[in-house]
This record gives sequence, structure tokens and C-alpha cells, in this order.
Amino acid sequence: MSFRTIEWRDNKVVMIDQTRLPAEEVYNEYNDFKSVAEAIRGMVIRGAPAIGVAAAMGIALGARDIIADSFETYYRQLTNICEAMAKTRPTAVNLFWAIERMKRVAQANREKRLDTLCDILREEAILIEEEDLAICKAIGRHGARVVQDGAVILTHCNAGGLATAGYGTALGVIRAAHDDGKNIRVFADETRPWLQGARLTAWELMKEGIPVTLIADNMAGWLMKKGEIGMCVVGADRIAANGDTANKIGTYSVAVLARENKIPFYVAAPTSTFDMTMENGDAIPIEERHSREVTHLQGVPVAPEGVCVRNPAFDVTPHRYITGIITEKGVITGDYARQLRRLVDK
Ligand code: MRU
Repeated sequence: MSFRTIEWRDNKVVMIDQTRLPAEEVYNEYNDFKSVAEAIRGMVIRGAPAIGVAAAMGIALGARDIIADSFETYYRQLTNICEAMAKTRPTAVNLFWAIERMKRVAQANREKRLDTLCDILREEAILIEEEDLAICKAIGRHGARVVQDGAVILTHCNAGGLATAGYGTALGVIRAAHDDGKNIRVFADETRPWLQGARLTAWELMKEGIPVTLIADNMAGWLMKKGEIGMCVVGADRIAANGDTANKIGTYSVAVLARENKIPFYVAAPTSTFDMTMENGDAIPIEERHSREVTHLQGVPVAPEGVCVRNPAFDVTPHRYITGIITEKGVITGDYARQLRRLVDK
């Protein structure tokens, strides 16, 4: 990869600043957990798996400053750090998954000397990052099998290297198919209001020389109808136990249009995105973001001042619209309730 989304370097957390792409490729350094939490909230880093990695690294940064004389007081302070991380973004379940994993590691090492715990937590955060990269590559390998030579693929938002430790989920499938020598082309939805498709997916694919055509979100249906799109692949922020999938706002519309036009619609995600505590998608918390993201484009107003705005950042696609879910453990189709359970137990 020609960029690094996030890494632990020289006792700091370094992230590419996604608010400034594609105009500038700037790397920010973080020394404390509060600024990492702010970076997640402010979308310097975004995308469910990348948010999980950032939270873990933020917790590891915070752990360095804990002063305690017993594991109980240590753990109480660690929990406070975890709570600050948990308040950043509500929809991506990978955030909560990573927080729980860091807490479990602390508990599992409660007998160790307290001054060694921050090293253990740092190693765990780095491991989460390394595992995520390997998982994305496995998703790519499995997903490439459902991509035909010559395929024209629509993707929404950015589920790429920038949204993960690298390589990506939906874009991992696209990368792997491209690396297999398949002659594929990509349509990237611009993804209003935050423009992840225009700013990030287009940037990432162009950097790799994968043919990409940018479209405004409202063009996808018409291009499907004209036969110009052969399949859709998107990422996920949270997948309920029955396969209902929360992803970037507009994903549901793409899925419905794909069904109407008899086009396969795939979700690519690691199993850490499964939320087996949710029976279906109805209870998935949907983040509402600031109205300014809708009323302004790059700081320029595009709506009358004072207009009422809604800005849900995600929607939920019912599982019946999903042709398959591509995971690091294989591609599942059909009876999602049973298949998801099987993968979790695998
Ligand atoms: O608001 P964002 O940019 O964090 O939303 C990102 C998405 O919706 C992605 O599709 C999802 O997190 C999967 S990333 C591999």
C-alpha cells in the first residue's frame, strides 16, 4: 500500500488525516487518548475496522498515564478511558469490539506487575492492527471468487484501506480481483454528505491504477437500468444476527435499486462487525451528525441559512436484499441467521 492508515510509531499513534484527502496527504501524531477520541469523532480516521484499531491504540496511549497501586484502581481508570472512546461514534460495532478486547486483555493479566500492563496493552493494539490487515486480505481472496472477469462494480462510501488497517473490505475484494488479473472497473458513489466515495475511494483506487469512475449518488439507479453496472460491493458498520446490515447512508437505496435491476449486492466485512446481540437491524443505533455536513460543502454554504436538516450517517439494509456476505472465513448466502452463527462458532 502506498499509504498507512494508522500505525504505532515511536511511542505515538500516527494517522493519515482523512479530513484533508485528497487535496493533502498529511499524517497527524497523537500522544494521548483524548486526542485520539477527538480524531475518531472528527473523522480524521473513519470506517468501522479502522475506528476499532484507533480506539485500541488510543486506550494503549491512555494506559501509559495511569497511576495506580492496585489492579482495581488501575482497571477503574482504564474503564474511564474506554468509556471516553465508546462515546465517539455509536454505529460501528468494531469500536465496542476493540474496547472489550482491550479490557479483557487487562483482566487476563491482572496478576502481572502494573507497570507492565501498558506494554501488554500496546502489543494487543498493534496485534489488532496486524490482524485486521490479514483479515482484509482473506476477505479479498474469498470475495474475488464472486467477481467475474470484466465486471463493473459499484461501491458506496469508502470501505478501503483507509477504512481498515489497510487493503480494505469492499475495496479488498476489488483489489484482489484486480490482482488476479481480472479486467474490472469500478463506479464510486460520491457518498454525500461527507463524500467518502469522491474524496477517498476515488483517491485510493486511482493510486493503485484500478479503473474508477465517479458518479453522484443519484446516478446509480439509472446506470443500473442501462445495464452499465454488473454487481455492487459495500462494507458494513454492524451486521445483526439475521444479516441486516448497517452501513453508510445511501447503502439501502443502492441495495433496493440493485434488487429492482437484478444485480447482485454483496456486503464485505470481518466477523468482528457481526453483532450477535442484535436479533435484527431495528435496534442498531444510527449516528446523527452535524447539520453543517449537509448545508455546507468544504465550508461553502449550499443551502439557505437556518434550514431544517436531517443527517443520519447510516442506514440499515434488510438481509433479504443481500446476495452474500463476504467475510475472512468465507462467503455466506441464504439463511443468514444460521450462517452467521456458524461463522462465529468456527
Ligand atoms: O462514517 P464512516 O466514513 O465511518 O462510514 C464508513 C462506512 O460506512 C464503511 O462502509 C464501513 O465502516 C465499512 S469500512 C470497511
